Amino acid sequence: MTRLGLSRRAALASGLALTAAPTWAAERSLRDLAAAKGVLFGAAIEPHVVQDDPAFADLLQRHCGSLTAENAMKWNALRPTPDRFDFAAADATVAFARRQGAQVYGHALVWHEAMPAWLDEALTPRTAGALLSDHIRRVAGRYAGSVTAWDVVNEVVERNDGRRDGLRLSPWFRALGPSYIGAAFRAARQAAPRARLALADYGLEYDDERWMVEKRGTMLSLLEDLKAAGVPIHALAIQGHLDGARRPAFGAGLRRFLAQVANLGLEIYITELDVNDQKVPGNVARRDVVVADSYRAFLDVVLDEPAVRRVTTWGLTDRHTSKSGMFPRADRAGVRPLPFDAALRPKLAYQALVDAFAGAPRR
Ligand code: G3I
Repeated sequence: MTRLGLSRRAALASGLALTAAPTWAAERSLRDLAAAKGVLFGAAIEPHVVQDDPAFADLLQRHCGSLTAENAMKWNALRPTPDRFDFAAADATVAFARRQGAQVYGHALVWHEAMPAWLDEALTPRTAGALLSDHIRRVAGRYAGSVTAWDVVNEVVERNDGRRDGLRLSPWFRALGPSYIGAAFRAARQAAPRARLALADYGLEYDDERWMVEKRGTMLSLLEDLKAAGVPIHALAIQGHLDGARRPAFGAGLRRFLAQVANLGLEIYITELDVNDQKVPGNVARRDVVVADSYRAFLDVVLDEPAVRRVTTWGLTDRHTSKSGMFPRADRAGVRPLPFDAALRPKLAYQALVDAFAGAPRR
């Protein structure tokens, strides 16, 4: 085994050079550094991947206090047919997390994507209410003792859909109207009374992107309305899919937005952090600097806000990242969006996380 847990054979097979790890190598646990400041650090995983890659499992154990089911708790994974639930992958995720001593973050009870084909037909104004509440009762109820927080509703705002309130015209919205959001939270509360319940969205991160700045306003109004209506919501989950090809414009606007969310009495979770380097030019060394700069600039602002209690990266190593399928580079080089490289060696992005947690105020 190499120092970072990759077997020599596996490294050679994947064509990776066994160069010495940088001197600041991954000895410092992100989980511990974050925990010292009152932040829970974690990563998203796929159960079949972690089962087949013991070195990666070791890395997760060292660094993650929380594990998110990247896909295993979505409707299309859990509901192959209208009347059959398949909990195999979700159960495997929970069992893995338990063995690792990590909490589980549930993703996602309601989303307009990753819906099984049968649901398109089954979802009507007459059936939608029961479908929604039955699903949440079964799923959140099954994991009530193990999932400590849920993305209850994912990606509810889409200003391009033209509604004054900015709500997305998702299949759930079309069937039930705006009330589906509160209904989902109430069902989750009933099924898992101890879980923290979050509303999750993307496109809230950059200060220099007009639609994102506007979306912050829409999101704040929505959160205010949900609080005023007594909906049991505990947190806003900001996905944090950053783009390395953009200037890391995280400043006063993001700070203000986070403070406004906190003023509503809500916690804030960063739930899907990664930095897309699909369009970042240059060699690996340059791309890693650019990617790390985005992590650093974002986290420096975000961790200054004491309401931020969780930071989760969308994967932990470039060896396993959905970015490689979704955002391949034109030069066919492997994408490098995460803190550890494909040989599980720490990158500059890892160091950016270390520095951000070390420099964060305690909460
Ligand atoms: O499991 C099947 C496999 O059986 C099949 O052979 C294979 C063929 O394509 O597909 C596999 O399913 C894929 C699944 O990922 C697991 O790998 C789906 O096609 C693919 O669409 C799915 O993509 C996921 C995507 O959400 C859609 O659900 C990505 O892994 C996942 O990273 C991504 O995550 C989303 C968050 O849930 C919400 N926020 C945005 C984020 C995307 O960056």
